[in-house]
Amino acid sequence: MGYLLGLDIGTSAVKTLLLETSGVVIGNVTVEYPLSTPRPGWSEQNPEDMWQATVTSIKDLLAKYQVSPDSVLGIGLSGQMHSSVFLDSDYKVIRPAILWNDTRTSAQCRYIENVVGKNTLLEEVCNPALEGFTLPKVLWLRDHEPENFSKLRWLVLPKDYVRFRLTGNLQMEVSDAAGMLMMNVRKRVWSKPVLEKLNLSDEILPPIIDSVDVAGTISPEVARLTGLKEGTPVVGGGADNACGAVGSGVVTPGRGMFSLGTSGVVLAHLAEPKLITHGTVHMFNSCVPNQFYMMGVTLSAGLSFNWFRNQMGRSAESYDALTERAATAPPGSKGLVFLPYLTGERTPHGDANARASFVGISATHGEAELTRAVLEGVAFAFCDSVELLKEAGWNGTALRALGGGARSPLWKDIIASATGLTLEEINIDEGPALGAAILAGVGAKVYGSVLEASDSIIKVERVVEPNLEWRETYLELYEVYKGLYSALKDSFDRLVEFA
Ligand code: XUL
Repeated sequence: MGYLLGLDIGTSAVKTLLLETSGVVIGNVTVEYPLSTPRPGWSEQNPEDMWQATVTSIKDLLAKYQVSPDSVLGIGLSGQMHSSVFLDSDYKVIRPAILWNDTRTSAQCRYIENVVGKNTLLEEVCNPALEGFTLPKVLWLRDHEPENFSKLRWLVLPKDYVRFRLTGNLQMEVSDAAGMLMMNVRKRVWSKPVLEKLNLSDEILPPIIDSVDVAGTISPEVARLTGLKEGTPVVGGGADNACGAVGSGVVTPGRGMFSLGTSGVVLAHLAEPKLITHGTVHMFNSCVPNQFYMMGVTLSAGLSFNWFRNQMGRSAESYDALTERAATAPPGSKGLVFLPYLTGERTPHGDANARASFVGISATHGEAELTRAVLEGVAFAFCDSVELLKEAGWNGTALRALGGGARSPLWKDIIASATGLTLEEINIDEGPALGAAILAGVGAKVYGSVLEASDSIIKVERVVEPNLEWRETYLELYEVYKGLYSALKDSFDRLVEFA
């Protein structure tokens, strides 16, 4: 029996997971690193911290589970999407990475739309210009830090950088490359038309590889640092959402999932890419070779609940205690609505200036209603994504439930009732790190295909059906929710200006 390692280079930590090739998850080690917000709306991280945490997590994992290096058959990586690692000609990091949740690039997004044209952008890279994506970050560097820009030789994303440090080979894996706004998603090549219009060279972009391709092997130096065996194969891996899909079995058309972490994602697998012309749905390459997925992203899902808990002075209380209190309020929170736009919103508005709001507070509302409204507001944000995915042709009736927030029974009941979809609970919720380990197994020829491996490891254990009474309430309230963004948009812009 051998083992596979899955590494997830996340926004707050590296999680390294140990999977027995039989499909049993043995355990994991998580090593945290800091995130800095030098200015409001900015979000940065030091790639060296990601690397050091990766080394520590591998070393600790091998020691914790007494794994012999010979028995590790392959390693896969997953990571936060879109975040820019800028390298010079000596492969040294030029400045801190600008992360997916950084909103400084609105001017660059408008510039891309003007110079490239919204239609060309959609036809070429299949996605709209959004602040979180990588291309606007490169333009920001050119506009604001010309000296750093002049040193830029290579542009990669976090997990591709860490894979480079593991193997010495610099490549971009396709599901992450898709989130840069620089790759033609359909043709799987860097988009010369987009890059030329922006006067950028495609030479800063490394070659594109597939998720299951063996990208290289563990170098002698890394073997010494981590305890891994030199020559252990490392596969391309995938973007965290794409790997989350692999790690939940959402790897064949018709299947979908939602993930309730800091951000929230609703994702549907596709055999063919689609041209979606409105609503900021993302269209990316899947980790299944030559397949795709579309997804909606709500930026402050778990973050809304976390923020609310802290602001209510409840940070010492468990989330369960809070949801118990929320459960005492009726569905619809007695006519109180929360818009979860704490850090702007991606889907459906694509608006960095959108702001969170409680609307409809009256003297009858207390903490239970406020808490429940937060959970319901995030569920309505998911409804926005589900609606757009359905308009784009997704005809599934169930979503697999993933992420920390999906452990709350109340939140799942609310989401099922608000979306009208069945939620499927799976036997293992290890998220992207499990997907990365499965991809390592496919690359190392332990498994025949991504679908075969995922379906043999991941099973649906329980379903949560919509509560039909709640559903009626939510259908009514969702109409109110949908009207609020446009009613408040001008005020959001003015408040951001004011702040
Ligand atoms: C997806 C996105 C986030 C990050 C989180 O487009 O920006 O889900 O991938 O790591």
